[in-house]
Amino acid sequence: MSEFVYMNGEYIEKEKATIPVMTHAFLYGTSIFEGIRAYYNEEENQLYAFRVPEHFERLVKSARIMHMVPTNTIDEYCEITKTLLRKNNYRQNTYARPTHYKAAQRVGTSFLKNPDAFLIFTVPMEDYIDTQKGLKICVSSWRRTSDNAIPPRAKVGGAYANCALVSTDARLAGFDDAITLSEDGRVTEGSAMNLFLVMDGKLVTTLATDNILQGITRDTIIKLARDLDLEVETRVIDRTELYLADEAFFCGTGAQVSPITSIDSRPLGDGNVGPISTKLQNLYLDVVKGRVPQYKKWCMPIYD
Ligand SMILES: Cc1ncc(COP(=O)(O)O)c(C=O)c1O
Repeated sequence: MSEFVYMNGEYIEKEKATIPVMTHAFLYGTSIFEGIRAYYNEEENQLYAFRVPEHFERLVKSARIMHMVPTNTIDEYCEITKTLLRKNNYRQNTYARPTHYKAAQRVGTSFLKNPDAFLIFTVPMEDYIDTQKGLKICVSSWRRTSDNAIPPRAKVGGAYANCALVSTDARLAGFDDAITLSEDGRVTEGSAMNLFLVMDGKLVTTLATDNILQGITRDTIIKLARDLDLEVETRVIDRTELYLADEAFFCGTGAQVSPITSIDSRPLGDGNVGPISTKLQNLYLDVVKGRVPQYKKWCMPIYD
């Protein structure tokens, strides 16, 4: 059976959801998007989509930055996501990709006189990056795009050419992924995920103003850690602090919680996945599956 895609206000078969070759977003990367995960909970035979309103709130912020006009309200976006996931009848972990894009069919970069369009597709998804083995990471020689170039605070399609260079060159050099610095040498984040360090029993993560996408998973980890009475510091991080951390992990909708065991060939701590990373990873995976009552408010059930 064909999967459905939501496009131009309708639920249509994926094969029919096509975009003309001269579409502005295809020519210039002028799209904004979200990645939302829905987790299948076997015990309840339920699919839970995680922090859906927060994703659409960020989409609306991206739209404000990028001269785009949202097509729907937050409530409508959530309802469309739910209907689409339900129509596709998934009983497995799934990823939804709402994309808002500039749909003019012409050559020329301007956002003016350029209609907005919106679609969501969904696809089954398990791990996007290995969450178990402990990642071997390098610092990328590429720099993160800055707030005054393509703002990382907005989740802009075209900006992912930067992420693709970072992740591809890291893999070609034999690493699992990379951490990027800003032009002035501050630590920002991974190729498409945020970063936490564990130092002296505290979590340390970069400032929201240090050229990162302000991740919803980052926010989730901060809240979970504080509820566990773990101190969380958000501050500027120097490159060499990366080498001195006791533990580190990436986090993101795709990356979930992915522990890191070495950076630039320097083992972190004893070189194994650390206890705080493991504890937060386990808790996160229970939370997203709707298994922790305190955080069930973040999980949108798809089936009645
Ligand atoms: C560049 C970048 N940073 C961070 C993240 C993490 O954001 P979130 O936790 O909202 O998925 C993502 C997306 O997953 C990303 O693409």
